[in-house]
Amino acid sequence: MEKTTTTILVVYASDYGSTEKMALAAVEGINSVPGGIAAVKKAEEVTAEDMTASDGVLIGSPVHMGSMDWRVKKMIDTVCSGLWMQDKMNGKVVGAEVLALTKRHAVHVTRAAAALKDQALFAA
Ligand SMILES: Cc1cc2nc3c(=O)[nH]c(=O)nc-3n(C[C@H](O)[C@H](O)[C@H](O)COP(=O)(O)O)c2cc1C
Repeated sequence: MEKTTTTILVVYASDYGSTEKMALAAVEGINSVPGGIAAVKKAEEVTAEDMTASDGVLIGSPVHMGSMDWRVKKMIDTVCSGLWMQDKMNGKVVGAEVLALTKRHAVHVTRAAAALKDQALFAA
């Protein structure tokens, strides 16, 4: 039987709530699409099972010192890398949202988003 649902795992790290707010808005959006099912987890809580159960992953990170949050990087280096080595990340659709302090720091967002994109493309 044809699959009629798409599960997206929304993963985020957040200290002051902005990235969390965006992640929860994404969850609302995903659930509003027919067949869309969102699962949401903080980066430290994501398991290999969460990752393999999803068709796609949306990763949210605040910019920290010009790059992605360490908890997001840790999740990629631990959970994703183990799956990647077993070819279990193949074909997964990955998106990213990155937040910084002000527009002046757009270069930091660009850099952090690029790092996140590179890692995501590497893994998927
Ligand atoms: C440890 C730390 C490092 C940060 N480094 C940067 C940075 O390099 N560039 C920047 O624009 N914002 C930086 N910020 C600001 C955050 O990216 C910004 O406030 C973000 O919106 C916080 O997201 P949150 O509310 O989800 O924690 C930093 C914040 C913290 C706590």
